[in-house]
Amino acid sequence: MRNFIWAAASIATLVLSGPALAQSPVIIKFSHVVATDTPKGKGAEKFKELAEKYTGGKVKVEVYPNSTLYKDKEELEALQLGSVQMLAPSNSKFGPLGIREFEVFDLPYILPDLKTLRKVTEGPLGTKLLKLLDAKGITGLAYWDNGFKQMSANKKLITPADYQGVKFRIQSSRVIQAQFKSLGSLPQVMAFSEVYQALQTGVVDGQENTWSNIYTQKMHEVQKYITETNHGYIGYVVIVNKKFWDDLPADIRDPLSKAMKEATEFSNAQSQKENDDALAEIKKSGKSEIIKLTADQDEAMRKAMEPVYKEAAGRIGQGLIDEFLKEAKSTTN
Ligand code: LMR
Repeated sequence: MRNFIWAAASIATLVLSGPALAQSPVIIKFSHVVATDTPKGKGAEKFKELAEKYTGGKVKVEVYPNSTLYKDKEELEALQLGSVQMLAPSNSKFGPLGIREFEVFDLPYILPDLKTLRKVTEGPLGTKLLKLLDAKGITGLAYWDNGFKQMSANKKLITPADYQGVKFRIQSSRVIQAQFKSLGSLPQVMAFSEVYQALQTGVVDGQENTWSNIYTQKMHEVQKYITETNHGYIGYVVIVNKKFWDDLPADIRDPLSKAMKEATEFSNAQSQKENDDALAEIKKSGKSEIIKLTADQDEAMRKAMEPVYKEAAGRIGQGLIDEFLKEAKSTTN
């Protein structure tokens, strides 16, 4: 049965990606779930600008932001079927595809800053992880940043005990699920496009996200408190349908690779500012109270989440976690 489904998907890919290539210009549909005014949204726009310029108009990139084309899970299926060519899902969303390893990025407090992250994504582990996508008919092109996550709810979240029994929306990552379980919370997987309404109607009590996502989805308008925890990271893997990519003639693929490289540099250079600006706007709005933790409170949160590492080892392997930590500490790149 599996083989049959795989064969059917491959045929669909052939049929669907064939005409895209025969077309002139070649159309790249780039679907994503966040607003245009975010690190990923701006990265996608930059890629469009450069890709069209460097291919001399042989390629047209259509960017579909804010889940207008597909929601989280659907977009990965659509990419495999070839009905969309490019996506940038967060590291936390590859588990349902059968690739758990990207969830290493979800481990609480694993990255002290973006500089450390770069050592991993630009090192051998970053390349190795991208290679895992090949088997799923996907080519990994780049890593794009968003930033660090904050916790929000309609109650003050200060000590680990405050998280007890709170319903949190999470991305589809088992490591994130374990993180909230370690705090005694009730995590619930939900598509990004549904979070605002779920918070507004009380389907969930809280969520974790970056400042830019909180601000552009207006989550701060339906959450009374946001605690500045910086406890985890959200970043993206820019991916493309492998067959579509492999079938491109070199005089198109090479300028697209150049466009992706430059769009990546652009996107990663402005992600921090996007999040800083969003935080300033949230503060200015006065809609959410921003809570800062003392050093002791921060330490208590770190301690409460420590068991997640042991649980994650069972899912993604202790070897992978060790490799990640080793590269993060290295001074070579
Ligand atoms: C989320 O689902 O919270 C984020 O991954 C959305 C995104 O793409 O930044």
